[in-house]
Amino acid sequence: MAGNLFFRLCFFIGVFASEVWTREVAPELITLECVPTLSLARIYLPAGYFLNKHVRFSAVDQHGRVHEIDRAVATQCGYTISSDFRGNIEFRASLISCYSQIVDDRNFTIMVQIDVATTPDMKDALSYLKSLSCSYFSWRPREILCETNYMEVSVWREIPQIQDFIQDEPDDWTEVFPEAVSGAASVWQVVFHLPSAKRAMLVSEAQSVGYGINTTDSRILLRAPFNASEAQETNVQGVTFSVLRSSTFYKQRWMILLVDTAVACPVDDIKFTMDTIIWSIPKNIGPLLIGANDFNDVRVVMGVNLHEMTSADISKRNYVFSHDHVAITIQIPVGAKGGYFKSHVREGKHGITYSINVFLEHQWNDNRWGTTKHTIIKEITTPFRHMPPIINNNTIPSRKLFNVTIGTFLTDTKLVSLTIGSETLTVTKANKRGYNVSEMKHPNGSTSYIVTVPFDAPNVEKTYGTGIDRIYTLNITFKFQVIPENQGFTETAVISCPVPDAVLPDAIGYCDKEHLSLMVTHGNVDEDWLPFLSNILLTTSRRSDYVLHDNGTHFLLQVSRHSSLLQYESLQSSSIMITLPLDMRDRSGITKRDFSISCSYSSKDLIECLPNGTMIVTAVKLVGVPDMDPSQLVLRDKNCRPILATEDRATFMFNVNSCGTVRKFKQTAMIYENDVLYFRPGMTVPAYQLKVACWYTTNETIVVPYGVENNPAPSVQPGFGPLDLFMRLYKDSTYSKFYEDAEYPVVRCLRESLYFEVELLRSEDPQLELFLVDCWSTTSSDQRSSPQWDVVINSCENAEDTHETIFHPVTNNSRIRFANHVKRFEVKMFTFMHDAKALSGKIYFHCSVVICDGRDPSMDLLCTRICIPDKQRFGRSTEMHYLSGHVSSGAILLVVDGTEQNDRITKSVD
Ligand SMILES: *[C@@H]1O[C@H](CO)[C@@H](O)[C@H](O)[C@H]1NC(C)=O
Ligand SMILES: *[C@@H]1O[C@H](CO)[C@@H](O)[C@H](O)[C@H]1NC(C)=O
Ligand SMILES: *[C@@H]1O[C@H](CO)[C@@H](O)[C@H](O)[C@H]1NC(C)=O
Ligand SMILES: *[C@@H]1O[C@H](CO)[C@@H](O)[C@H](O)[C@H]1NC(C)=O
Ligand SMILES: *[C@@H]1O[C@H](CO)[C@@H](O)[C@H](O)[C@H]1NC(C)=O
Ligand SMILES: *[C@@H]1O[C@H](CO)[C@@H](O)[C@H](O)[C@H]1NC(C)=O
Ligand SMILES: *[C@@H]1O[C@H](CO)[C@@H](O)[C@H](O)[C@H]1NC(C)=O
Ligand SMILES: *[C@@H]1O[C@H](CO)[C@@H](O)[C@H](O)[C@H]1NC(C)=O
Repeated sequence: MAGNLFFRLCFFIGVFASEVWTREVAPELITLECVPTLSLARIYLPAGYFLNKHVRFSAVDQHGRVHEIDRAVATQCGYTISSDFRGNIEFRASLISCYSQIVDDRNFTIMVQIDVATTPDMKDALSYLKSLSCSYFSWRPREILCETNYMEVSVWREIPQIQDFIQDEPDDWTEVFPEAVSGAASVWQVVFHLPSAKRAMLVSEAQSVGYGINTTDSRILLRAPFNASEAQETNVQGVTFSVLRSSTFYKQRWMILLVDTAVACPVDDIKFTMDTIIWSIPKNIGPLLIGANDFNDVRVVMGVNLHEMTSADISKRNYVFSHDHVAITIQIPVGAKGGYFKSHVREGKHGITYSINVFLEHQWNDNRWGTTKHTIIKEITTPFRHMPPIINNNTIPSRKLFNVTIGTFLTDTKLVSLTIGSETLTVTKANKRGYNVSEMKHPNGSTSYIVTVPFDAPNVEKTYGTGIDRIYTLNITFKFQVIPENQGFTETAVISCPVPDAVLPDAIGYCDKEHLSLMVTHGNVDEDWLPFLSNILLTTSRRSDYVLHDNGTHFLLQVSRHSSLLQYESLQSSSIMITLPLDMRDRSGITKRDFSISCSYSSKDLIECLPNGTMIVTAVKLVGVPDMDPSQLVLRDKNCRPILATEDRATFMFNVNSCGTVRKFKQTAMIYENDVLYFRPGMTVPAYQLKVACWYTTNETIVVPYGVENNPAPSVQPGFGPLDLFMRLYKDSTYSKFYEDAEYPVVRCLRESLYFEVELLRSEDPQLELFLVDCWSTTSSDQRSSPQWDVVINSCENAEDTHETIFHPVTNNSRIRFANHVKRFEVKMFTFMHDAKALSGKIYFHCSVVICDGRDPSMDLLCTRICIPDKQRFGRSTEMHYLSGHVSSGAILLVVDGTEQNDRITKSVD
């Protein structure tokens, strides 16, 4: 992370003009500091001014020449440019860096040119020249500096006793020495000690591959990158060091001298636990102690930000700094003073790191090198730690106010916008909108944000919960930005709060002859509810079978009672229940509330009984049998299928003589019954049974309600039809001409025969048979009046006395289609006696008849043709197998002789 930023900020590719317009007046913000204990000089550029600017550093040598510092130059020449996460830039230079002006190895002058531009091409760069002189005179014989980007060693250039070397390290030196001497240009040469071999390089050659080699008045120095090709990774007590073992030869007058310029710096010495940084360095670094067999500590110190810490500082800051004869250990609690936290965004998630710049200086004495000063500078950053913001719900239902707290954040994280519902607002705009957004500072410097949103704000979602609860839902997305990188992340909170303030829609319904209606009053929760009728979404556009009208506060639904959207349920014999089932569903299709109104209608118009014995039956789909397919309905005779079927109803048309229709008699009514049946595939018990019946009456009867029988819930849909009886008087025994209505009263003489015919009119049922039960005559049109003279008694001819009755057979002819519907009898003219006197004047004939099922006359004796006097008519069973009726003739005027005739005729006309 730091490395990337370092690269981004500091290294620019391009030609750099030698004439640079230099501004002597640098911002006071740039601070310069000598850090002699670390043999470093440092220049500090605070973020405030240099943020979002492009900065370039160049070294200026004693001749005023400017040398741009790129990454390679920095490593080779002893410069470090680093930038922390907050945007502060630090430039560090080794006192013995390449272009340092050195006097007596005591006074060091570093000159740096800083170019600051707003564009990467540096066209508008302002240049600041900074010069810093530092004194350092306590050089140790060997000083090793492990900077963040290079390793540096400088060794006192005393004239060594070669013999001693050879004695001490016979293997090492005897091999190397001849190579050095035989080197072509033996003025400068470096020999690297590799595990398998030695590699000799001329200085120019070594410099070309990135090594920095030079001398000062009294010292030889070698600088190398950590990953130099001749460096070895060596494990020292569990810590990996980058080790470069080298010997540098130089010629001094007549002598060839060599210096061991070994350097070793740790690379994986930092460990992290959740809350602690642990830095542990072994004391006995083998590659630096070759030839020594004893060493003792001179000084062990640590520091932060290049400043040495006293033990008081250390304990005050809760660091732990300890060392034994094996290792030095530094423990720094994450968050301790001296370092800083920084927010980051990784994969859209918020997290933090903690960074601290620590150094460790270890000086020791050994019997081979004298004093070595080993300094390590570490810019430590803990791994990214995901820190999901904590959202607190402090909603106050009683005040109808959402109160959401989100935090905590470092000061480098800013809330930039809020998305509430579908609207995105900046913090300023949100505040103007009435969403109160405020920042809450915590004592430790971190921040939380508080947002309050009234429940009735437009972007708060209101939904219906249960009972009388309305649920207010705030869906809020916070957008944050981490500065200075301007990386964004978002966090969403969805907070719901139920409030018992729901007003549910309510409905009233009414029925009229043609419509079922529901008037629904809107509540405050049904804004988005949609009305469904039998799973059909209703719309306000006009439709033929319903009307939906919404005026904002109410809606009226009016449905024709014939609409296929309604549901039918049978109720009783003569009525049907029609239900308008309205349900209101939310957007996801869940029914939230249902209303229905049921109206009872007479079922008469679902069945039609034609006089000629044709039944037209309409069966509607009932709620109880949702899977019913009306086209699969049948009658008792399963071969009888509907003549018309739609999704919700089927129509049958059949003759009472067919389709398994059963005939029943009930006092004065004859009933034809059938069933409309629905069988589920493979089932023998019907899932649906609708009893249908036609009642034919002889126009004197009252309607008898028909009871409900059997399972499953059958009912009768009776229809009513006329059943007419007619009595005619024929002119002679051929029964070819009868008296028309206009010819009445008919004048007949005593002892002439009267030829009567009784007929069941209109019926087309060939199975019916008409029987005469009793016939009699009266002198008034009232059949109950007396005196009465019997003509037919209990289906038998009255052959007593003088008046003789004779039955005549009936055969089909052009007029009579069903002979069974007709009975004929002849009454011989006799003297109607009353008070022992022959009657003259008007006389009326009456018959009581029964209509029987001709297929099964034995069901009732009345229905047999056999005349059995005194047969019992009643008292056998309550069930009747016939229909009875009465028929009367028109007036017949009896004349005894011709003289009375005219007088009687005149009299009778009234
Ligand atoms: C070596 O040091 C001298 C004196 O400080 C300096 O002028 C020269 O540039 C240095 N050379 C290199 C290659 O660092
Ligand atoms: C070194 O610097 C010190 C203090 O800045 C000064 O007093 C001294 O004269 C300088 N010595 C040389 C040799 O320039
Ligand atoms: C919101 O909740 C916070 C934390 O409990 C509280 O400090 C603040 O006063 C509340 N705001 C309102 C407007 O009630
Ligand atoms: C909240 O809003 C976001 C975007 O507006 C949406 O993606 C998300 O599904 C919503 N969450 C809920 C629970 O409604
Ligand atoms: C928020 O707080 C309110 C009031 O205490 C509570 O009714 C509601 O359930 C809470 N909502 C969530 C999502 O925690
Ligand atoms: C809507 O119709 C209902 C019933 O007719 C009536 O009471 C109500 O005032 C009407 N509302 C509006 C806004 O017209
Ligand atoms: C009965 O009358 C109807 C209507 O007049 C007619 O359609 C039907 O064919 C008739 N049925 C018979 C069997 O005559
Ligand atoms: C019965 O007869 C009377 C008189 O003819 C008539 O007005 C009435 O409509 C008839 N009723 C039925 C049910 O046919």
